[in-house]
Amino acid sequence: MAEGKIYIAGHRGMVGAAIVRALEARGERAILTRTHAELDLTDQAAVRRFFQIERPSQVYLAAAKVGGILANNQFPAEFIYKNLMIEANVIHEAWASGVKRLLFLGSSCIYPKLADQPISEDALLTGQLEPTNEPYAIAKIAGIKMCESYNRQYGEDGIDYRSVMPTNLYGPGDNYHPEHSHVVPALIRRLHEAKVNGASAVAIWGTGTPRANFCM
Ligand SMILES: NC(=O)c1ccc[n+]([C@@H]2O[C@H](COP(=O)([O-])OP(=O)(O)OC[C@H]3O[C@@H](n4cnc5c(N)ncnc54)[C@H](OP(=O)(O)O)[C@@H]3O)[C@@H](O)[C@H]2O)c1
Repeated sequence: MAEGKIYIAGHRGMVGAAIVRALEARGERAILTRTHAELDLTDQAAVRRFFQIERPSQVYLAAAKVGGILANNQFPAEFIYKNLMIEANVIHEAWASGVKRLLFLGSSCIYPKLADQPISEDALLTGQLEPTNEPYAIAKIAGIKMCESYNRQYGEDGIDYRSVMPTNLYGPGDNYHPEHSHVVPALIRRLHEAKVNGASAVAIWGTGTPRANFCM
């Protein structure tokens, strides 16, 4: 059991909810959550107040403005602004209030579009990103670099801020919106509807040339 409270930012999202289930299954009781309506993580003053009052000892940062190709392409300003603000506010205020352990959720789209496969960690910042989600990826890279920088500058104080890069995720609580979902739930929905409707063909976005490994 962890000492002190564990704050899960984004606990109603797919990843955040899964983290809460895993922590509860391991017997953690002091789990701290706030809905988006209760605490807007882009609001620096509100985030500062929250950390100063609640003083969690650990943080899982699974809150983000998230979406698939179409949403990223339509709302690039929202993707870069909101994600930069959420990361800057949560990581900095966590540090300022004495949080020693923090886990930041990145994304595999931070790596160059044409990186060698399988992608290795040192491919980061070695080439052009996929243009459709570049603003989102740049924000995620900033979050990773914040964790690295805080470790470098304040590591002697015992802080340990880590980033993980999940690939395509899917599972309970996923978003199956026809246009705004990620590729795996989108494919599940299309194939399911095609089966239910007895369709003879299923339309998949893109040119058909990209290849992907989905670990199911
Ligand atoms: N899903 C994937 O395939 C995938 C792959 C790689 C990495 N990731 C990463 O994993 C993390 C979580 O993804 P997810 O799929 O779980 O996303 P999600 O289901 O959309 O959940 C994101 C959560 O963040 C909350 N949130 C967004 N903006 C907020 C704000 N300004 N203030 C407070 N809360 C806010 C959302 O609340 P509302 O819904 O109320 O706004 C939601 O509960 C993200 O960092 C994402 O980049 C996901």
